[in-house]
Amino acid sequence: LAGRKAPGSLAGRRVLVTSGPTHEPIDPVRYLANRSSGRQGHAIAAAAAAAGAAVTLVSGPVSIPDPVGVSVVRVETAREMLAAVEAALPADLAVFAAAVADFRPAEARAAKIKKDGSGPPPLALTENPDILATVAGLTAGRPRLVVGFAAETDTVIDYARAKIARKGCDLIVANDVSPEGGVMGGASNTVHLVARDGSVETWPTLDKDEVARRLVAHFARTLCAP
Ligand code: CTP
Ligand code: CA
Repeated sequence: LAGRKAPGSLAGRRVLVTSGPTHEPIDPVRYLANRSSGRQGHAIAAAAAAAGAAVTLVSGPVSIPDPVGVSVVRVETAREMLAAVEAALPADLAVFAAAVADFRPAEARAAKIKKDGSGPPPLALTENPDILATVAGLTAGRPRLVVGFAAETDTVIDYARAKIARKGCDLIVANDVSPEGGVMGGASNTVHLVARDGSVETWPTLDKDEVARRLVAHFARTLCAP
């Protein structure tokens, strides 16, 4: 058994986690953003470090503290997040928990937009790069396990199954973020693990730290499988 890792251990593994929202500038004082506290992604980074991994956390703007024992790279925009992710590779496991803004203003104005009495200015948007799909699609240096998240407000599992195929990742952690559930910014989460073969494992509602520990144990077992 020499060299065998204990089940649940990530000793010797490199892990990359994205977390938080991205901010996409409109002008020097305004931005577009997604709603995300970063709590789930940060908890996963902390749990992976506690399991022995060398962890890089690429985080958008959040108001929570850096997790202990993790190397943190702070970014603002989706394009910065992609560049930081590419710089942090290679990794054995990559977990994309960030709520990346799908669109950004086509042009960030250099000067503050002023009201001039003629009504709101038009805001042209352009699509951001898909960081998860980019990494999942790497032909050289793809992490062995690529995990996406899906925050949905309806038909959570159907959307997750479609997303896993579209993005080319190995697993999607799907959750229902309907406003009545209190997941957004809250302390607990109800997740469904949707695998590439379409199988689904639904967990009870758990504290986000406990979700993170169980996810990390699940990832460690998957990486140990032949
Ligand atoms: N993601 C990403 N880069 C993007 C958009 C999303 O890395 N530009 C990642 C998220 O971190 C998450 C997964 O992709 O792990 C799914 O994000 P989601 O917003 O649910 O998927 P989209 O493909 O953007 O679809 P939609 O928002 O239309 O549901
Ligand atoms: Ca999206």
